[in-house]
Amino acid sequence: MSKIHAAITAVNGYVPDYILTNQELETMVDTNDEWITTRTGIKERRILKGEGKATSDMAVPAVKGLLEKRGIGAEEIDLIVFCTCTPDMPFPSTANILADKIGAVNAWGFDLQAACSGFIYGLTTGAQFIESGMHKKVLVVGGDKMSSIINYKDRTTCIIFGDGCGAVLLEPNTEGLGVMDSILKSDGSGCPYLNIKAGGSLHPASHETVDAGMHYAYQEGRTVFKFAVTNMADVAAEIMERNRLTADDVTWLVPHQANKRIIDATAERMGLDEDKVMVNIQRYGNTTAGTIPLCLWEWEDQLKKGDTLILAAFGGGFTWGAVYLKWAYGA
Ligand SMILES: CC(C)(COP(=O)(O)OP(=O)(O)OC[C@H]1O[C@@H](n2cnc3c(N)ncnc32)[C@H](O)[C@@H]1OP(=O)(O)O)[C@@H](O)C(=O)NCCC(=O)NCCS
Repeated sequence: MSKIHAAITAVNGYVPDYILTNQELETMVDTNDEWITTRTGIKERRILKGEGKATSDMAVPAVKGLLEKRGIGAEEIDLIVFCTCTPDMPFPSTANILADKIGAVNAWGFDLQAACSGFIYGLTTGAQFIESGMHKKVLVVGGDKMSSIINYKDRTTCIIFGDGCGAVLLEPNTEGLGVMDSILKSDGSGCPYLNIKAGGSLHPASHETVDAGMHYAYQEGRTVFKFAVTNMADVAAEIMERNRLTADDVTWLVPHQANKRIIDATAERMGLDEDKVMVNIQRYGNTTAGTIPLCLWEWEDQLKKGDTLILAAFGGGFTWGAVYLKWAYGA
């Protein structure tokens, strides 16, 4: 019997309507469009506005649209892996909340927290349940409402992040298409450079933690940049070497959208021309676990059965990794 691979059989995404431009940020913090554009490549990002709106509210339209595309009902889903660092609440999991909202009555699920590497960790995790034969339909969702943890008075973080959510469906494939290989890494010594200090068991929420701004995302940008630029490029090159792939073999690089300069360095290391690199950072900024599935969603029409994709990410933890994927549908 031929090996079972976990293939992506549908993809969809959702971004909120509100557009936060560099020009609007200029009115909020001491920054300017030229600085943001040259240092990050970002022009605008989407923000989920409105009372009572959470990460799951972006996942609902993303997943409903995905199920419609695939022509299946929510009750057919076996498992939901929800990759996010901005869950609706500490518990229950956003996977559970989503399952209830969409009527995935036969699914179990859990949240996976690996910051910006969330989606590639989640894709690899979800794939295991398909490859083992345990499940037939696994939903991997990557989404973050970053605006809920950003201090819009801190110019070093508020220019980078945005809100958005993407989702893919994994199903068994015996034609040699789907997730072929993954390399996932982490280094906990990166904790001081990218974190949220309070709201966990170390510093539970208190008046003091709120007053000190400890519930906002903190980033030492320069240090994170150095680690990201080296490690994302290294791991992308490593997965190519391990699978004996040349630049000509790779149809698309699907990079985490943290900074255009990090994306460019990764593509250069892989020997890829920029027309093989998915980049939408200028419109969405860094949506954390959302970036990679949002790219797949936007480029879906251009993807063809058998295309070779390399997904690569780097994020808080530090966490990083790459996935080698053979696209399973399209003309
Ligand atoms: C955040 C980031 C864009 C900053 O770019 P950078 O080139 O490293 O800039 P630096 O932090 O060295 O700051 C350079 C100068 O610009 C200033 N600056 C910082 N933010 C600014 C802003 N929004 N507007 C204008 N000036 C700004 C700094 O104060 C500093 O001034 P100084 O030289 O007088 O001290 C960049 O470090 C980065 O992208 N890091 C990785 C982010 C990331 O990937 N995070 C998510 C994890 S996946």
